[in-house]
This record gives sequence, structure tokens and C-alpha cells, in this order.
Amino acid sequence: MKVLIVGSGGREHAIAWSVAKSPKVDKIYCAPGNAGIAEFAECVNIKAMEFDKLVAFAKENAIDLTIIGMDDPLVGGVVDAFESEGLRVFGPRKNAAIIEGSKAFSKDLMKKYKIPTAAYENFTDPDEAIKYLETAKMPIVLKADGLALGKGVLICNTLEEAKEGVKTLMLDKQFGDAGNEIVIEEFMTGREVSVLAFCDGKTIKCMTSAQDHKRAKDGDQGLNTGGMGTFSPSPFYNDEVEAFCEKYVYQSTIDAMASEGRPFTGILFTGLMITEDGPKVLEYNARFGDPEAQVVLPRMKNDIIDVMEACIDGKLSDVELEFEDNAAVCVVLASDGYPEKYDKGFEIKGLDTFKDKDGYYVFHAGTKFDDNGKIVTNGGRVLGVTAKGKDLKEARANAYKATEWIDFDNKYMRHDIGKAIDEA
Ligand code: AMP
Ligand code: GLY
Repeated sequence: MKVLIVGSGGREHAIAWSVAKSPKVDKIYCAPGNAGIAEFAECVNIKAMEFDKLVAFAKENAIDLTIIGMDDPLVGGVVDAFESEGLRVFGPRKNAAIIEGSKAFSKDLMKKYKIPTAAYENFTDPDEAIKYLETAKMPIVLKADGLALGKGVLICNTLEEAKEGVKTLMLDKQFGDAGNEIVIEEFMTGREVSVLAFCDGKTIKCMTSAQDHKRAKDGDQGLNTGGMGTFSPSPFYNDEVEAFCEKYVYQSTIDAMASEGRPFTGILFTGLMITEDGPKVLEYNARFGDPEAQVVLPRMKNDIIDVMEACIDGKLSDVELEFEDNAAVCVVLASDGYPEKYDKGFEIKGLDTFKDKDGYYVFHAGTKFDDNGKIVTNGGRVLGVTAKGKDLKEARANAYKATEWIDFDNKYMRHDIGKAIDEA
């Protein structure tokens, strides 16, 4: 069969790698892709938000299955565009992707269906938001309702900071219309865990857990980023936490979406905080996490095509997900300066070192071929270096060893990815 993947990051590279393993697949295309994805897929110069062009390409090339990796097209309704032309596509429709596209929607859903989450209020009026803050307990969390590249969340320690935050989001519109509405929620402390799950509208099957490192600098300092590294599984996601979430979070969410007339098909990513009062939902995403996908997919034993087709056909209950009994760590190599200003266009050396090494992967995020055919840096997050090991400590040592095989000007990484493992 022929598969089209939509996206251009490390997540889509990991998806392409996984799809390429399926004996059912003869040909992979990726729109727009990157220099690493080009190893498995023919990259097509169509952007993820060009729905008409994507649909036309899928028709002209008799694509059997399209997989949407990114949030923007999902929230914008790309799945509906494919389905209206009778094309098979993996991902939630627009009316279900809203679970990621609107934080106010997802908070109201959790409240209505009693899914554990932080206490909150939604605001469309900045004056009302400020009035609420004046009597609220600090620290407090402000979230832009809409998509903001993972950067629309402000943790405010004082009332002054919180008032400034309302101004940034709602008046200065740092994230555009995403800040027309904001959620103000209780600050929680605890361990964060990401749980990605396949869904077919009524059944949900969770993958192995992972933990992201969102801040740019060591010790969880610096600005929030898309994610600087991950490990899987999380030692903090123990049997008790898992049993609680199975009872009160995952199936409840899928049932809630179905009850609202918004059946969820695709990947549901639940961001959890394990607090002293038990696990609570931080957020939902409607797609694989990045870089979570870069540690979870290399550990998955199933043929990803079988699982995705079962989701589309409503037959996920027949599937048993299986993961290797090992661990994986991904360290993101970024351009120094990310997530703010950074230079790009530097040659990347050492990529070939990964070719003959089992259990080591280099997933490309911001890379491209220059005019001479050399692979150069082309974004903030450049590469994800993933390694497996028999346990988390071995995987971490392997991943950091592999980061040394790669060289480019401006190379930046965190040195404490997986440090939490030592505290488990
Ligand atoms: P989100 O995009 O909602 O996952 O938020 C981004 C990051 O902000 C999360 O991964 C947490 O580290 C942090 N965060 C979000 N909500 C809260 C909260 N209520 N309390 C503490 N930290 C939070
Ligand atoms: N790594 C977090 C995300 O993909 O949203």
C-alpha cells in the first residue's frame, strides 16, 4: 500500500521509520518532510495547511492511507477534508481535535464528566480575569485557549506577574487569537507523565508511558519549548497510577467525547501531573507527542499500520498493543538560542555513524539538504538522538554517548535529560 505522512518534525520521522517497517507498505510519501525522512519517504513540497493540495495529491497518487502528525492541520479540519473525498486518513476530525485546539473546551469537558484536573475558570474579558486574580492563591497558571506551539502557558508567582500575563495573552495578543479566551488554573506540583493512546471512537489502548523535558535549560530553567528530550517508560507511572487513570481518565475521556457527538479517532495524548492528591490531567493533545514519539515508537512491537487501520475501522478492541521490555531516552540537539533567536544553515556531520548501530536512532526535526546536497540545520530543534538500553540508566548513557557522534556549529542540548530517573 501507499502511505502519505503529513508533517516535518522528529515525530513524523519516527512515524515514517515505524511505517517503513510494515511489510504491507510499498511506498511512503511525506508532505513536506525533511532531510532525514527522505531516507524512507519521497518528500512532497506541500505544506501541512494546504488541504486542497494534500487531498489532490492523495487522489492523484492513489494513496491508501494518510497519517496526520501535526496539531495545526488536525485542529483546522484536514481529516474532514480527506474524508469528504472518500479518502482513508488517520487522525481525529475537527470536532474532536478541539480537545487540543481549545483548552477552555477540554477543561469544561473534564468538569462535566468529572475527570480529575486542576480547578480553573475560563475568561473572555481581561477585566474579569484580573478581578478573579486579585483574590486567587499564587502561584497560578494562565493558559491561552488556542494553539500556541506549546508556549501559551504562563506560570505566575505573584499577582503582578499574573496581571502582566493577562495583558500579554489577551491585550498584546502574543499568541494572536489563541489568547481571545484564557484559562486560569490552580498551580499543581508533582511528576509529569505523557501517555499516548490509540483510539477508535469508543475503545482506547494506551502505549507505554514517557516523560518530556519542556524547559530549554538544565534544571528545568529557561523558556518552555516544544520538548528538549524524553525517556520511556516513566518510573513514576506505577501500577497504582495506571490503574487510577484507567478507571477515571482514559475511557472516561473517550466516552465523554462520544457522548458529546465528537467521537475521537486517532492518537489521544494525555499530559498528567501525579500530585499528592493523585493523578490529574494537565492537558490533552490530539496527536503523537514530539519528542515522546521518538522514544515510544522505537519500543512498539506492533505493526503501526495494523493498529491505525483498526482505529479507522472501529476494531481497536481486537488489537493487543505490545512494547519491548526495555527503555529508551531521546536527547534533542537544538540550535543554540532556541526557542528564541538562532542561526541555521550549518552542515551536520556524523549522521552516518547511526546507520549500522542497532538500538540507536537519529530522528530529524529541523534539517534540509542545501544546494550541494549536504544536510544542514534548518530549525530550532534540529535532531532527536534516541538510544535504547536494558533499563533507563543504560538507555540514558547510550543516548548521551550517541550525541557525541553528531557535530554542527551552534549545537545545543540539555545535559540532564532523564536525571529524574535517579530519584525514582
Ligand atoms: P500544557 O501545554 O497545558 O501541558 O502546559 C505546559 C506545561 O506547563 C506543562 O507541561 C507543565 O509543566 C506546566 N503546567 C501546565 N499547567 C500547569 C498547572 N496547572 N500547574 C503546574 N504546571 C502546569
Ligand atoms: N512534547 C510535548 C508535545 O508534543 O506537545
